[in-house]
This record gives sequence, structure tokens and C-alpha cells, in this order.
Amino acid sequence: MLEKIRTIESGCQDNLARVSTLEELNEFRVRVLGRKGEITQLLRGLKDLNAEERLEIGKAANELKERLEKMIAARHEEISRRQLEIKLLNERIDVTLPGLPQQRGGKHPLTLISEEIQNIFSGMGFSIAEGPEIESDYYNFEALNVSRDHPARDMQDTFYINEDILLRTHTSPVQVRTMEKMAPRIPVKIIVPGKVYRKDDDATHSPMFTQVEGLVIDKTITFGNLKGTLMLFAQKIFGEDVRVRYRPSFFPFTEPSAEMDISCVICKGAGCRVCSHTGWLEILGAGMVNPRVLQYGGYDPEAVSGFAFGMGVERIAMLKYGINDLRLFFDNDIRFLQQF
Ligand code: DAH
Repeated sequence: MLEKIRTIESGCQDNLARVSTLEELNEFRVRVLGRKGEITQLLRGLKDLNAEERLEIGKAANELKERLEKMIAARHEEISRRQLEIKLLNERIDVTLPGLPQQRGGKHPLTLISEEIQNIFSGMGFSIAEGPEIESDYYNFEALNVSRDHPARDMQDTFYINEDILLRTHTSPVQVRTMEKMAPRIPVKIIVPGKVYRKDDDATHSPMFTQVEGLVIDKTITFGNLKGTLMLFAQKIFGEDVRVRYRPSFFPFTEPSAEMDISCVICKGAGCRVCSHTGWLEILGAGMVNPRVLQYGGYDPEAVSGFAFGMGVERIAMLKYGINDLRLFFDNDIRFLQQF
């Protein structure tokens, strides 16, 4: 029996040395000390021995059991420590490695052009005004001298929400909104960047687009002030050598009204496909504020005068960057947007 105990012990020592994970160690423990384990069997067999043997073998078996328990605990420690070391080794961070570059976003080309336009006019003393995109019929049309049956309403295909509420078709309603707040103070010198909406959809029209409106009111504002201001603007945004011209036009809210063309940015005026071989590109509408609009805004047309203008930001961006399809601005294609 003592012989057997020694065999069990040396067998256990061998096996224990080969155990390398906590799972294996647990299996080993069950195999040796568990209910059907070798030691347990041995202790159960004691009852068949005589008293003297039982004492001797029992003592030896119990001592072995204790030693095995200690050995298993020690091995448990060892394996746990080794596993932790391996884990720490694998997780080691090399602080000298170069960082992973983060992709940075950028401003949308329409934002860039809007900001450039705003900067140019800020430099001339204009401040920035804003108004709602959901607008009343009154501000969008009525107060701009476009009555309900006015044929000029056909020029702007309107999204109506109900009879009196609509999506603004231009930024011009902010003219009267601003006048109402300011009157009778002068000077008024604002630009109004913002989104506008029309029922239109093709390569040069989008149901939503961006405008910048301008309004100046003071004691003796003339068409000369309008020309000087817009000339400087054109030169700042398209370059010193750009030429401008005015063509008579009609807008109910200005009198007289004009459209401003710039010399073609592609062919410099020689004539090409972009300018339909005219050498000129239309970029904005403008005029002297109609006296009736001044009255709607609370100003006395006998005491003050003003000029106004409105331009499409997409059109300016397309000309400046040579973009031929307006829809590119709204497709959100990163390959397009990254170029700006
Ligand atoms: N609101 C006009 C449009 O969207 C543009 C415009 C023309 C604005 C003349 C003005 C202006 O302020 O004076 O077609």
C-alpha cells in the first residue's frame, strides 16, 4: 500500500508538471482528489485494513492528499502569473510609433463661396441679416410689390404650404423684414445669405439653392453706388481684370432694374460654349429699391433711397470652380467635395 502511495505521488508530480492551463489543472485536481479520484479511492479502501495498517496507511494517504493540495495551489499561482505575463506582453504599447492619421472634414464648396462673399461685403461695411425659410406670402411677394395676380409670380415656381405660407423663393423677403426692424434709422447696409426653394430640377436648377441678397438704404443712394459696390465685388471674387456690364431688366421690387453680367471667366470675353459665344455671363439681378417697397418697410421714399441685389451662390461657385452640373453640390460624393 505504501508502495502504491509513492507511485501515485510520483505520477502526480509528472502530470502536474505537464499541466499548462488552469482548465487542465482543474481536470487534474478532479482526477486525483475528486469523488472518484485515486486518493479518494485509496482512503475508502482503508476500512478493509487492520487497525495498525489503517493508522499507518491512512496517515500517509492523508499527508499525500495535503501535499497534493499544496502543489495544486502552487501550480495554480504559477499558471495564473504566466498567463498574466503573456497578456501584458501582447498588450505592450509602443509609444514611439507614429500616430494613425485622422481624416479631417472640410467645408462644403457652397459654404466656402458664401463665406467669401460675406467677407467681401463685410469689408465694405455690410452686416449679415437672416430670415426664415418658411415664409409668409406677404413678405415673399406682397411687400415686395408682387400682388396676388401679378404676372411676375410666374417667374418663381413656388412651393406653397397653404394659401398664405410658402417656402421662400428668394432671400428678398429679408429686405422688408430688416427695414421693419430698422426704420426710420439709416444707414441700412446688409447682406442676407440663405437657402431658397423653387419647383425646378435639372442640371442648372435645384429645388433648393442658395442666394445672397444685398440691401443698402441711406439719404442719397444712387445707381452709381450700386455699380461701384458690385464692380468691386466682381473684381474681388473673379479677379481684378474682370469686366462687368448692366442690362435693363424688370423686378417688381426695384425701379429701375438691371442684370449684371461679367466677362466670361473661361474665354475672357472671346466667346465660348460656357457663355453661349456672347463673351458675357449673367451673375445677379439688382436695382434701385422701389419706393413702394421702402414704404412697406416703414421708410419715407422722399427722405431716403436704396439699392438692392440678389445672386445665386451655386452659379457663382460653378463659374469660379468650372463646375458644369449643379447637382454635384448636393450628391455628397466625397471625391467631388474633397477638391475644395
Ligand atoms: N430676388 C430675385 C430673384 O431671386 C433676385 C433679385 C433681383 C434680388 C433684384 C434683388 C434685386 O434684391 O434688386 O430672382
